[in-house]
Amino acid sequence: MANASGLVAPTLPSLRRRFSPSLGVYRSGFWFYDGVSRRTVCSGAAQGAEKLSPAESKARRLVSKGCKLVGCGSALPSIQISNGDLSEIVDTSDEWISVRTGIRNRRILSRKDSLTALATEAAQKALQMAEVEPNDVDLVLFCTSTPEDLFGSAPQIQKALGCSHNPLAYDITAACSGFLLGLVSAACYIRGGGFNNVLVIGADALSRYVDWSDRGSCILFGDAAGAVLLQSCDSEDDGLFAFDMHSDGEGQRHLKASMKEDKTDQELATNGSLLGLLPKGSSSYSCIEMNGKEVFRFAVRVVPHSIELALEKASLGVSNIDWLILHQANQRIIDAVATRLEVPQERVISNLANYGNTSAASIPLALDEAVRSGKVRAGDTIATAGFGAGLTWGSAIVRWG
Ligand code: ACO
Repeated sequence: MANASGLVAPTLPSLRRRFSPSLGVYRSGFWFYDGVSRRTVCSGAAQGAEKLSPAESKARRLVSKGCKLVGCGSALPSIQISNGDLSEIVDTSDEWISVRTGIRNRRILSRKDSLTALATEAAQKALQMAEVEPNDVDLVLFCTSTPEDLFGSAPQIQKALGCSHNPLAYDITAACSGFLLGLVSAACYIRGGGFNNVLVIGADALSRYVDWSDRGSCILFGDAAGAVLLQSCDSEDDGLFAFDMHSDGEGQRHLKASMKEDKTDQELATNGSLLGLLPKGSSSYSCIEMNGKEVFRFAVRVVPHSIELALEKASLGVSNIDWLILHQANQRIIDAVATRLEVPQERVISNLANYGNTSAASIPLALDEAVRSGKVRAGDTIATAGFGAGLTWGSAIVRWG
């Protein structure tokens, strides 16, 4: 059975015990804290199939489970594209891109490479770090907006990992917020559903949906995969202190990759036949359409507020954060959020100079590099936030290890 030896810091008292515990039911709706221990209110399936009396069933729904982040991994395609390379295909320059975005390089998948394989590699590394066997994985959440199967690529990852007990595996589509949503979903499964080991993988290949003639957007994106293993633990060791998540469909017009328009309606109008009504059977999506300025304004407005809300729910302050790991979209966005929250630069993790915006992969990729380089250590508290298409955004306050 799994453990995370060398990663967990059991001697560290939980932050909640160290910093002014508070009473109340949190918006996450899954646990409450009574000053002594955190109790998880179960909302998922009962564990075991035996018949329970109503009283037993109620008691079962109050389970004392927490979750912790015990392993991470990442994987990158081998093809690197520099700003200089891009300046050969669009009217841009290394100076413009690096000053406006902080990005210098990005990786992209070749036409024959598979995102599913990249995601599998990241997941394998997370399992190795956590010392968890594929057969001990209960759930695989694949956060991606660029799956290789419209019906979901997660089961292919589950198969490639060798999880022979057929654990549930499915995709979560939320662009650059995908990983954050997956992380919180995994915590909910563990706290309330009786799951023990949940793999959360964020991976995207937005290069497949970039208009390589649009200099306003093609400079931003890269492909990558990152993964985290969440494991059940005692409630007092719970490593997800609080979260905050939102969506605003109104803002979709600022960032989208919509289905290409079908000519069906026009054809129906001209000939009125059933054949004209039926879809062509080869629908596809348009390239990314983005109003960069609006997305920028949106991000610097909502992200600091979301982190403040999550900190408030966790009864923590900015001074309790060891690291700020934001979705890596633009260095100016990262700097603006850090300035607004008054987080000093040395506590901000950024790697987008090397990889650009890798969508759902960016947070686990940055976390993985920071953990493997020894920057982020067991017991560190991290404020993380995702934001992007949808529009969707959210934040979480977590402890590593
Ligand atoms: N090279 C040179 N010039 C350029 C380039 C380029 N690559 N791109 C735009 N320009 C020009 C514009 O044409 C414009 O010229 P003009 O003044 O003559 O009209 C000028 O530079 C300024 O353009 P802006 O769009 O105003 O530049 P801005 O400072 O806003 O930077 C950028 C653009 C980098 C896209 C920025 O707005 C941004 O990063 N926004 C956030 C985007 C983002 O993060 N999107 C992803 C969200 S996550 C997800 O879910 C996918």
